[in-house]
Amino acid sequence: EAQHPPGSTQAADRPRPLHTALDSVFERVRALTDGEVASYIPELAREDPDQLGIALASVRGTTHEMGDSAAEFTIQSVSKPFVFALALEQLGLAAVSTHVGLEPSGEPFNAISLEEASGRPLNPMINAGAIVTTSLITGNTADEKFDVISAGLAAFAGRDLAVDEAVFESEAATGDRNRALAYLARSAGTLASTAEVATRAYFRQCAMRVNARDLAIMAATLAAGGVNPITRQRVVSESVARWTSAVMTSCGMYDASGEWLVRVGLPAKSGVGGGIVALQPERFGIGTFSPRLNDRGNSVRGVAMLEELSERFGLHML
Ligand code: DON
Repeated sequence: EAQHPPGSTQAADRPRPLHTALDSVFERVRALTDGEVASYIPELAREDPDQLGIALASVRGTTHEMGDSAAEFTIQSVSKPFVFALALEQLGLAAVSTHVGLEPSGEPFNAISLEEASGRPLNPMINAGAIVTTSLITGNTADEKFDVISAGLAAFAGRDLAVDEAVFESEAATGDRNRALAYLARSAGTLASTAEVATRAYFRQCAMRVNARDLAIMAATLAAGGVNPITRQRVVSESVARWTSAVMTSCGMYDASGEWLVRVGLPAKSGVGGGIVALQPERFGIGTFSPRLNDRGNSVRGVAMLEELSERFGLHML
């Protein structure tokens, strides 16, 4: 554990009071049993619904963990901001913006979203925009694209991440709506590969296995302006980290993004595997894991923990 300067007021850097507060938040949230584990990807329905974990990582590299913080689950949509960051790093904002927009959709994550005039999905956090983002990653085949994505997400997390092959196969076998979104974007001229290449790479990206600690470190890397606070490796530029955090702020929680910004006030991204990442720029990243989802596809207990922590510690950015 690192030493902390006297007078430090950074919540994520004060181990004991933080742990006490986390404890009480954690126990209250554990009592919540509403919501359902995602089942439209059949393999996800096998997840133990009672798991609950949280991890925090400060930009100085200190970490705190509670509960099932080491339990692995599939990253799903939490991958989207990190792959968006990799695309921005490779191509720049102007080029990426010709393929995918930056506006909140106010619609569910799997909405059929293409701007009339430009053929662009509204933003890179919904499925349509994320599939386009994945198509932009270097590589001619799905495997080549996925190798770049896998190396990039490993740099964000500070360790290699495996693919859950059963979840990948399950989504590949049932993901026709995502294929339809990819074909629409292809026909509109915004998908940079074939629909099959883009969706296969995207399904593998979504099936990467992470734990809450990985998510906290990935988010802390964005909070630290693109440098992983544990490995000290620069993963993306400061501008890319800021642009990515901005899109998470406006679009990360889908059609709950506006309410999230009022209640929690932090850039965040959820996934149907039960994970949520949130961050406060220049301070810390948080990862939560609990598989039961609300009707927007966001983890019920993850949302509850982040709402309460934000309130208690005054984490709201505004
Ligand atoms: O494309 C899908 O439907 C999933 N692989 C990911 C969706 C997701 O995580 C939405 N999140 N809340």
